[in-house]
Amino acid sequence: MARKIVVTSGKGGVGKTTVCCNLGVQLARKGYAVVVVDLDFGLNNVDVVLGVENLAVYDVLDAVEGRCRARQALVRHPRYPTLYSLASNRAGERYISPQAVRLVLETVAPRFDFILIDSPAGIEEGFHRAASCAEEALLVTTPHLSAVRDADRVAGILGSYRLGEVGLVVNLVRRDLARRGEILSPEEIAAALHLPVCAVIPEEDAFFLDNIAERSRAFRRLADSVLGMPSVGRETVKFGRKRG
Ligand SMILES: Nc1ncnc2c1ncn2[C@@H]1O[C@H](COP(=O)(O)OP(=O)(O)OP(=O)(O)O)[C@@H](O)[C@H]1O
Ligand SMILES: [Mg+2]
Repeated sequence: MARKIVVTSGKGGVGKTTVCCNLGVQLARKGYAVVVVDLDFGLNNVDVVLGVENLAVYDVLDAVEGRCRARQALVRHPRYPTLYSLASNRAGERYISPQAVRLVLETVAPRFDFILIDSPAGIEEGFHRAASCAEEALLVTTPHLSAVRDADRVAGILGSYRLGEVGLVVNLVRRDLARRGEILSPEEIAAALHLPVCAVIPEEDAFFLDNIAERSRAFRRLADSVLGMPSVGRETVKFGRKRG
C-alpha cells in the first residue's frame, strides 16, 4: 500500500511542483513505484514538468467522474518505468469533493509505494482536498520571510490533519546569502517552524553546471530522507518485489 505524501506550501511559486516531480524521479530511480498526482486543478503542470504532457488521454477528474477507470488515467514515464503521472484538469469552477479524489487514490494505492500529491498554494479548498488525501506532508518554503510566514500558517493548519509526519523542504537557497546573514538559514527556518528539515535545495543557476549537479544531489538526499521517515507503520516495498 502506497505512502501518500502531500507536497504543500503557504506561498505560491516556492517550488512545490518542482520538488514533487524531482522527488518522484529520484524515488523511481531507486526502483520504487511512484505516482505523482496533480491536485492543483486549474494551474496543473506536473505533466509538463515530468515531460509527459502529450501522453495523457484521461486525467484525475475523468477518473473521479467515472469517464475512465483510475488506472486508465495513469501515464507511465517513458524514461523511468516505475514513475507514473496522474494529470490534473483545467476544471473551471465546479466542486470536486475530497472524498471522491481520495477514493480514486485508494484504488491505485495498492500498485504503488508512493503517491506524491502536488497541492495548490494557499489554504483554500484545493489545499484542503490535497491535504485530506495524504498521510504525510512535505512543506516547501524558500528562505524569504514572507514564504516562511505563510509556511508557518500552513504548518499550523496541517496540525489539524491526522498526518504521521510533516517535513520541511527549504528551496531556492543561496548559501552565499545565508552565510552573509542576508536570508534566513535553513536551521533558523526549522527552529521557527518547529519542523525537521528533510532537504535544502539550492537555487539552480543554469550558468553553473556545478550548481545543477548540487541540486540533483539535494533531491537524492530528499529521497533518502523520505525513505528514512518513520512513516506511521507503513511498509515501503521496492518495485518488483511482492507487495502485501
Ligand atoms: N531550486 C530551484 N532553482 C531554480 N529555479 C527553481 C527551483 N525550484 C523551482 N524553480 C523554478 O521556480 C518556478 C516555480 O516553481 P514551481 O512551479 O515548482 O513552484 P510551485 O510552488 O509549484 O508554484 P505554484 O504555487 O504556482 O504551484 C518554476 O519556474 C521553477 O522552475
Ligand atoms: Mg505548482
